[in-house]
Amino acid sequence: SHLRDLFAADRQRFSRFSVVWNDWLLDYSKQRVTTETMEGLLALWQAADVPGWIARMRAGEPINHTEGRAALHIALRHPTGPIMHAGQDVMPAVHAELDKMRRFAGEIHGRHWRGATGEPISDIVNIGIGGSDLGPRMATQALAAFRHPDIRVHYVANLDGADLATVLSTVQPRTTLFVVASKTFTTQETMQNAASARHWLVHALGEAAVARHFVAVSTNLAEVARFGIEPANAFAFWDWVGGRYSLWSAIGLPLVLAVGFDNFRRLLAGAHAMDEHFFATPPAQNLPGLLALLEIWNSNFLGADNRAVLPYSQSLGLLPRYLQQLEMESNGKQVDRQGQALDCATAPVLWGEAGTNGQHAFYQLIHQGGRQVPCEFIACRQPDFDLPGHHEKLLANCFAQSEALMRGKTLAETTAALAASGMSADQVAFLAPYRSFPGNQPSTTLLLPRLDPFNLGALLALYEHKVFVQSAIWDINPFDQWGVEYGKQLASRLLPVILGTASADQLDSSTAGLVAACRNPPRSGRD
Ligand code: F6P
Repeated sequence: SHLRDLFAADRQRFSRFSVVWNDWLLDYSKQRVTTETMEGLLALWQAADVPGWIARMRAGEPINHTEGRAALHIALRHPTGPIMHAGQDVMPAVHAELDKMRRFAGEIHGRHWRGATGEPISDIVNIGIGGSDLGPRMATQALAAFRHPDIRVHYVANLDGADLATVLSTVQPRTTLFVVASKTFTTQETMQNAASARHWLVHALGEAAVARHFVAVSTNLAEVARFGIEPANAFAFWDWVGGRYSLWSAIGLPLVLAVGFDNFRRLLAGAHAMDEHFFATPPAQNLPGLLALLEIWNSNFLGADNRAVLPYSQSLGLLPRYLQQLEMESNGKQVDRQGQALDCATAPVLWGEAGTNGQHAFYQLIHQGGRQVPCEFIACRQPDFDLPGHHEKLLANCFAQSEALMRGKTLAETTAALAASGMSADQVAFLAPYRSFPGNQPSTTLLLPRLDPFNLGALLALYEHKVFVQSAIWDINPFDQWGVEYGKQLASRLLPVILGTASADQLDSSTAGLVAACRNPPRSGRD
């Protein structure tokens, strides 16, 4: 069926296929589903025992079975009451760490924490990568409207020296605090950037300055101490927090410094509200459940191999990047929980960009490129930066895109419209095929009241649980990431070859050729 026909046949389609939670609206009526499809999809919830998996997660069972770990990120935003892990309530430790973050932010914001020369801190540089970067970086931009006026927060992730060097060129050693964030405290990128930052600081202020200008966030406090950061300046989290699920832990420290602890608390409260909704709501009204099932419909049944996330919010511009790690590192798997190869696709390729910018870049392909691109539009009723004349136009563009993608424009409609504009019959016949649109491109629209800490927290928890539901249905472990390891191992093996201290003999000819070309610039045969 074509979506245009489904809408024409059912005037109740919007109310039938939309859900309200608090003051949020999830409209999935522009997905290519019928009542019958939804019944079939909703049955997957029980068939895959999603309630059982939720119970196992909440009980702190080692559901990350390849690493023997629990996945208890829900504890990080749990307000009261015990959450057990290995026979112990984790909540006292969670609250103690939150308290340490609150006190530390109070010292920085109150200008009580001084650098080595006695000056207050004005710039924070978070050094971390993957889950130790993307969450706080994205949330700092998302909550720009809530920013502390005196503090600038920068993020450095890439091993490429250009990342750190460009940030260092904008800050002063006397007024800069580095947060070295790494779950393992062994990640090559972070350790290299931290060492270079330390060198920069020590060169300017001397070795003793490190204590006033470096703090760390890690589960590996022994390595933190070895790096030279005092235990008092180390913020802990635990191995039952996956890197890409760690924004809610001390990994959120740069965000706390950017927007204040009270706003971080509101973020946690929003995530907790979504946890409660997820745990207690039947699948037909369950927001994470619905998003999970609709994507399974699009990828496993309709054959779409990708999904575009399109926030009509400049502040949510980094959301697609954050979701790339959350969704693709979690569910980009092809071996099930029994070690057997799967016979179906899992996480589709996720990509996207803030609207309206994307409209002037890649939307052409979504409208007329002939590929299935399920789209997820995210919009807010109220703007976070209220410049007159902007927000209504932004919303009009967002809704117009999903309408156009759904409806399309037939050759007959285009022909009639061009003829009515006074064009000659020859011109009409020539142009009409180019100016027609197939439509039937599925989309979901999530309409939030506004982008604030509470709603951002709920939004991110929504996606975490969506990933979890899909992992249960695909029967995969969403909490490991062995695929990342192999490349890291090969990079360690190649480094001595690039440095010239090991031979390239064992390498394939392409890799050996690339290494050789770095040492001796290649010459074309024509020279
Ligand atoms: O990319 C692999 C990964 O292990 C991610 O899962 C993690 O978020 C990232 O590296 C950073 O790891 P760490 O926080 O230990 O430095």
